[in-house]
Amino acid sequence: MPNQLPASIQLTTAATAGIEPEAPVIMGHGLQVRPWDGDLLLQMSAWGERGFPFSAFDMGFLKEPARMAEFTGWLGRDDRHLHLAAIEADRVVGRVSVNFRDPAGIYIWGVHVPPEYEGRGVCTRMLQALLGWLDTRDCGELVLSVNSFAHGARRIYERLGFAPVETRWQFDPALDADLRRLPPGQHGPVEGHVRFSLGRWEVRTFLMRRPAPGRK
Ligand SMILES: CC(C)(COP(=O)(O)OP(=O)(O)OC[C@H]1O[C@@H](n2cnc3c(N)ncnc32)[C@H](O)[C@@H]1OP(=O)(O)O)[C@@H](O)C(=O)NCCC(=O)NCCS
Repeated sequence: MPNQLPASIQLTTAATAGIEPEAPVIMGHGLQVRPWDGDLLLQMSAWGERGFPFSAFDMGFLKEPARMAEFTGWLGRDDRHLHLAAIEADRVVGRVSVNFRDPAGIYIWGVHVPPEYEGRGVCTRMLQALLGWLDTRDCGELVLSVNSFAHGARRIYERLGFAPVETRWQFDPALDADLRRLPPGQHGPVEGHVRFSLGRWEVRTFLMRRPAPGRK
C-alpha cells in the first residue's frame, strides 16, 4: 500500500528519538518486527475490529484523517515507548509496544493481532522475536499486564515465561465507555471480571513478570 500520509508527518518513535534502544528491525520466527511508519499505520487502520470488550485495541479510528494526524502527533512527542509492527509477507499482521520508562519495569503492552490473522501463532512469534531481541540487549526482567477475561492472551504469556505476580483493579477508559453503553445484564465476557467503583468501571488485571534469562 502506498504511504498516503502527508510528507510533513514524520513519525518519531522512542527508537528514532534516540533514547535506548535504537530502532530495531528484528527478523525471525517468520516475521519482520520493526517500528511503525506511516504506511504501517495505514495498513493497521484497515484491520478488522473486535469491539467490546477489546475496543481499546481497535485501530479503525485512524481512518479519519484528523484522528490520524492527532495520533501521529502524539507519536512524534512520545519518547517513552517503542511501537513495533509485525510484518509477514508484506502485510502488517500484529503490533506490540514497549514502555522503557514504566515504574514497574520494562513494560510490554498493546499486544494486538487483528481477527483476520489470529490463531496462526502471530502473537506468539511476534513476542518470541521481541523477547529474544530484548534479551540480547540485557533488558532484564520484563513486565506486562493482562485483563483477567483475556484468557487466550494469558495462556500465550505463560507459555513465554511470564507468571502472574499481582492482581490489580484498573480503570480502562475504552472498557468503561463500552460498559456505560451496555444495558445491565449484557456484560457477557467481562461478567465477574469488572466492578463499578467510585463512579467508574474497573477491570481486574494480572501483572505478570518474566525474569531475566538465567534468573528465577
Ligand atoms: C490475544 C491475541 C494477541 C492472540 O493473537 P494470536 O496471533 O491469535 O495468538 P497465537 O496464534 O500466537 O496463539 C493463539 C492460539 O493459536 C495457537 N497457534 C496456532 N498456530 C500457531 C503457531 N504457528 N505457532 C504458535 N501458536 C499457534 C496457539 O498455540 C494458541 O493456542 P491456545 O489458544 O490454545 O493457547 C489476539 O487474539 C488479540 O489481539 N486479541 C485482542 C487483544 C488482546 O487481548 N490483547 C492482549 C491484551 S493483554
